[in-house]
Amino acid sequence: MSKVISKSPHLDFLRVTERAALLSARWVGKGLKNEADDAACKGMRSALNELDINGRIVIGEGEMDEAPMLYIGERVGSGNGPEVEIAVDPLEGTNLCANGMPNAIAVLAGCVTGEGHLLHAPDCYMDKLVVGAECKGALDITMPPRINVTIMSKCLGRRIDEITIGILDRPRHHEMIKEIRDTGARVHLISDGDLSIALAALDVESGVDALMGIGGAPEGVISAAAALCYGGEMQARFVWSNDAERERAQGMFAGDVDRVLMTTDLASGHVQFCATGITSGDMLKGVRYTRDCAITESILMRSKTGTIRRIQTMHRNFKRAEDLD
Ligand code: FBP
Repeated sequence: MSKVISKSPHLDFLRVTERAALLSARWVGKGLKNEADDAACKGMRSALNELDINGRIVIGEGEMDEAPMLYIGERVGSGNGPEVEIAVDPLEGTNLCANGMPNAIAVLAGCVTGEGHLLHAPDCYMDKLVVGAECKGALDITMPPRINVTIMSKCLGRRIDEITIGILDRPRHHEMIKEIRDTGARVHLISDGDLSIALAALDVESGVDALMGIGGAPEGVISAAAALCYGGEMQARFVWSNDAERERAQGMFAGDVDRVLMTTDLASGHVQFCATGITSGDMLKGVRYTRDCAITESILMRSKTGTIRRIQTMHRNFKRAEDLD
C-alpha cells in the first residue's frame, strides 16, 4: 500500500521538514550557511523522494539552469500517487542557522493539484502585511503603517503600546520603523527570517501581532499558505528590482502583476503547511540533543480542516536519518 499523501498528509510532510531540520541542525553556529543549506536540501529532497506522490516543486531553491537541489520544476516523490504542488524553504534563515540565532526553520507547503493552488511567484521581493484572524478584513497594505496599527488596536481590543509589529531590520524599513514607533506600538526587529515572524503574527499566543515590510516573495507565498490555514490574512505586493524581473513575472501568472495580492491570490483551496524548528525562536523550539536522541518541534496545519497541530518528536534513530550517502 502506498504512503498516500491525501490520507496522512501531515505525517508525510512532517517527516520531510523534520529531516531537513535534523540535517541542517548539525551546522548551527558553525558560520557555514551554504553547508547548512545544502544539508537541509539534501534531507528534504531525500524525504520527499520517499513519498508516493507525483510532486513538482513550484517554489524552491532556484531555477533549473542554476541546478540547485529542489529547483523550481523539479519532480519529487516516487512518481506514484497524486500530483502535488510543493513550495519549499528547506532552510529559512541561512544566516540565522550559521550564526546560531533564533528563528531558523525548515518549511514546506503543498497541495494536491486541482484541490489547492500556490502562486508560482518569481524570486524577487514582496511587500507583506500578515495578521491573525482578529484583524482579518480590517487592514489595507496601501495605507500608511500608522493607520493599520491604529485599526489593529481596535480589532484586538488593546492599547497601541500592547501591540507588537515584526519587521526585518533593513535600511529600506527605517522610515516605517520610525512611523510605527511614533504610534507607541512595539517593534520586534529581526535580522532575517520573516517567514517565522509571519507565523508568529498569525498565532495568538506568540506575542507578535503583525508582520510588515519587504522580504522575499517565495517566503511570502509560503506565509500565505500558513495564513490560509490559520484563518488569518496576508496582503502583498511585488517589489521589482528592475523591468526584466517584472516582465518575467508577467509570463508567470495571470492578471496585473502590480496589484495587491490577498491571501487566496497567493495560496488557495486545500493546502497543507509544515515547519520544523532548527534554532529556537518566536514560534518553535530548535533541534535539541540528549544522550540518545534528537528532539524536534513542528507545526502542522491543513486549511481544509483548520487543524493546527504542534508536534514534538523524539528521534531515537536520528543518526540513521543523517546517513544519506
Ligand atoms: P535566506 O534563508 O534565503 O537567507 O532568507 C532569509 C531572509 O531573511 C528571508 O526570511 C527574507 O524574506 C529575506 O531573506 C529578506 O531578504 P534580504 O536579506 O535581501 O532583505
